[in-house]
Amino acid sequence: MTVSILFVCLGNICRSPLAEAAFRVAAARHGIAAHVDSAGTGGWHAGDAPDQRSRAVARAHGVDITAYRARQICADDYRRFDWIFALDRQNLRDLAAMAPVDATAETGLLLDILPGPRGRSVPDPYYGEEADFERVWTLVADAADALAAWIAAASGQAGSGQAGGSNG
Ligand code: 4NP
Repeated sequence: MTVSILFVCLGNICRSPLAEAAFRVAAARHGIAAHVDSAGTGGWHAGDAPDQRSRAVARAHGVDITAYRARQICADDYRRFDWIFALDRQNLRDLAAMAPVDATAETGLLLDILPGPRGRSVPDPYYGEEADFERVWTLVADAADALAAWIAAASGQAGSGQAGGSNG
């Protein structure tokens, strides 16, 4: 079974490309087949490559995201994907507001996959510094690993990795 997962932030140039990249790594580690993409609730950056700081932090963790291109979420995404994960609470609200009536995707907040308090957002690093992007990577890598481990367990497929760890 191939699961399909869409990660959504505001611009699709900082956080959700990192979530997509981290989840691709985690899916491979846990041996799950997944169709993965990312999008923004806003369309201002459509067609753009990820923010240079996101490209740098991904590269530092062994992933090349230079070929990713930003796009805005569309109605069809709500029918094509099994799960849509928002990077922050505002994006989750916007996702709900933009959903077509025949949406079938489950939506949720990415960090709710982690133990601890619910409702946590991945802070927007756009006006921040490199350290803020590194913090984003740590959060999305932990969540991606937990998500992949959960999917591997739920689908009865053997996973070899450790849930909840960082991607190093
Ligand atoms: P992202 O970050 O939602 O993580 O991609 C942002 C990117 C662009 C803007 C804001 C946040 N912007 O205002 O253009």
